[in-house]
Amino acid sequence: MRRLILTLALALTAGFAMAQKGTFEAGKGTFLLNGKPFIVKAAEIHYPRIPRPYWEHRIKMCKALGMNTVCIYIFWNIHEQQEGVFNFEDNQDIAEFCRVAQKNGMYVIVRPGPYVCAEWEMGGLPWWLLKKKDIRLREQDPYFMERVKIFEEKVGEQLRPLTIANGGPIIMIQVENEYGSYGTDKPYVSEIRDCLRGIYGESVTLFQCDWASNFEQNGLDDLIWTMNFGTGANIDQQFRRLGQLRPDSPKMCSEFWSGWFDKWGARHETRPAKDMVDGMDEMLSKGISFSLYMTHGGTSFGHWAGANSPGFAPDVTSYDYDAPINEYGQTTPKYFELRKMMERYNDGKKMPAIPKPAAPIITVPKFELTEFSSIFNGNDPNLDTPICKGSQLLTFEEVNMGWGSMLYTTTLPEINEQSLLTADIHDYAQFFINGKYIGKTDRVKNEKSITLPPVKKGDELQILVEAMGRINFGRAIKDFKGIVSDVVISATINNIETTWTPQAWNMFALPDSYEKAVDAFLHNNDLSKPDTGLRLGKPSQFATDGKDLTTRPGYYRGYFNINKVGDTFLNFERWGKGQVWVNGHAMGRIWSIGPQQTLYIPGCWLKKGRNEVIVLDVVGPQEAVVWGQAEPELNKLQLERTNKHNNIGDKPDLNSDTPAASGQFKAGNGWQTVKFPAPKRGRLLCIEASSIQGSGDVVAIAEIYAQGSNGQRLSREPWTCKYADSEDEGGNHLGDKVFDLQESTYWQTVRGAGFPHLLVIDLGSEQTITAIEYLPRAEQGAPGSVKDYKIYVK
Ligand code: GLA
Ligand code: CA
Repeated sequence: MRRLILTLALALTAGFAMAQKGTFEAGKGTFLLNGKPFIVKAAEIHYPRIPRPYWEHRIKMCKALGMNTVCIYIFWNIHEQQEGVFNFEDNQDIAEFCRVAQKNGMYVIVRPGPYVCAEWEMGGLPWWLLKKKDIRLREQDPYFMERVKIFEEKVGEQLRPLTIANGGPIIMIQVENEYGSYGTDKPYVSEIRDCLRGIYGESVTLFQCDWASNFEQNGLDDLIWTMNFGTGANIDQQFRRLGQLRPDSPKMCSEFWSGWFDKWGARHETRPAKDMVDGMDEMLSKGISFSLYMTHGGTSFGHWAGANSPGFAPDVTSYDYDAPINEYGQTTPKYFELRKMMERYNDGKKMPAIPKPAAPIITVPKFELTEFSSIFNGNDPNLDTPICKGSQLLTFEEVNMGWGSMLYTTTLPEINEQSLLTADIHDYAQFFINGKYIGKTDRVKNEKSITLPPVKKGDELQILVEAMGRINFGRAIKDFKGIVSDVVISATINNIETTWTPQAWNMFALPDSYEKAVDAFLHNNDLSKPDTGLRLGKPSQFATDGKDLTTRPGYYRGYFNINKVGDTFLNFERWGKGQVWVNGHAMGRIWSIGPQQTLYIPGCWLKKGRNEVIVLDVVGPQEAVVWGQAEPELNKLQLERTNKHNNIGDKPDLNSDTPAASGQFKAGNGWQTVKFPAPKRGRLLCIEASSIQGSGDVVAIAEIYAQGSNGQRLSREPWTCKYADSEDEGGNHLGDKVFDLQESTYWQTVRGAGFPHLLVIDLGSEQTITAIEYLPRAEQGAPGSVKDYKIYVK
């Protein structure tokens, strides 16, 4: 009440010169906008994932769906790319974004983090925080909190004038993001709340979003609590606990996941339109507010895509998300189905017209990238001199580099036998000896060692490390890049196990920036020039090893001409792995494994006449050709081998083992714990399902935890899926989905594959297990949930 009077008083004294001031707050069972019941129908869209010239178009597209609000994160690391240097201009102009929303009659929900997740590099946190090696992220670490407050204050300078109390469109502000999936730390969450209160004033409505399973962990008494869940979820179940604790609270699904994000090496994710529309229909019929995440996903341009965890699962460049508005801002069948349903809740009013596309679609004929500058030939000034020399292997952060690649070189002792090199490298490492390619380790596959051939004293070992996006989810967000362990070489010489740890390293930085890429060509733009391999000290190594000149790591440049500007999709499926710039705009990462093979090229960044394309390919292309197409290719995998875990050689023989536990699970949704009669030690956790609840023969499991001897959950960081007898690969329901920290994703077998079903998890090392926790699918009736089980630890 006091708040209301204050707002009214302010409104009266300010006169009529400013936009109308308003109020937004939680009333009994509903939100109140200017005192009247209001259902939030929010569309989540992300300003850095949409080119600035297309913002208004995308907002209008949301409005034509019947939405009344847009919901945005604020991405700290795109505004403060260097500590203390802030940018709120152009594509970063968040105040302008809010004004455009308001101009189009939309309210705005702001989620300023500091952490945002969002499949965004480091969940939105700036990498330079990691220069303080022992920093505790998302905790009350003094340096972290100091930087958070400076950043939030800067955001406040932009957005404070735009809150509803000040006549702007901002109705609510979120405190942190899903803290329950990170830990329990009310003092930290409270400090973020107080920081935002201090900036936006007492009148602002603050909320916290979490999952139904964990929102109580950090729920603060004076904040609104909202739930996040996906298409298909059992909605009553999702709000049951909230209803018990706060029967009068307005209900809101603050992230209703329309689709899902894609990661490199796995199929494109989709979710049925019907499940999404039915879920939203149900919510609206019950007066539940929502934000549709994503309504339009857009693109994670440049190096801004993050990576999921546990495991290391870097996200692709496209953030299409199978959302109703596709990556390039156009309607989909899902869009029309949603619009039809939303019309029924539009107070009898006509729906706003669907705007015409922001740009036409054009195609570009095949063209070649004929200019080349090798990473290795010493002509790249970035690599003339090492950024660092010494006995210590440094990470990117330690040499003050945020993104890109680093070359580590050392000379080897004489090793007459084959040897094994072991190292923990983030993320994709290629090994060369005297410039000759030996092999790679890929963090995505948990590869940590490689066999070296016999070498002579003085041979040079080169390790080219490319970083992908930093992890954006879970405890692993503290994700240093580069070589993060010692490099250890071991071999058996005359029956004696010998190890070497090289102590003299040269490190060459290759930051990913357009300026550096252009620089590289100033020094070598002629393909006919021999590749001298100068810096590697082995002249013409590449030229004589029989490899085609183009199948090499380096910068490639070419041009295409257009006489009409429009959006297009450039196909890079003949390329290896790296980054692309078009007319100086960082377009994103490419990787031949797919599933994404094209990059979305917005017409607003093209021009009539000649357009420039630069590719930094750290692997080297099959063929340095690119072509434009009218449709994206988001679902073409080109894998060395399948993702499935069905190699029969990996299946443990359990015939003579006694189960650690056996019995029957209960039917229905929610977590269940199975305590073992006695602790069991082993490295493999095997879950055998011999029947399911209800009919059908498909088994599904959403999440599994194992408890150690102290009853605490074991870290799932080192877990890998060793074996699954059956997996629905087409739907991305692979075995590793049971430990991806996402309750909405699950392992699922294919129809018709006979019982029993077996899932084997490699815990990474021997562990003592006392119990397991099991979560079936989140949908109504928990489809595919297990009945009879046996659990083995081996
Ligand atoms: C969570 C996060 C979002 C996003 C989604 C998955 O709900 O809050 O930022 O990462 O998961 O797309
Ligand atoms: Ca899961």
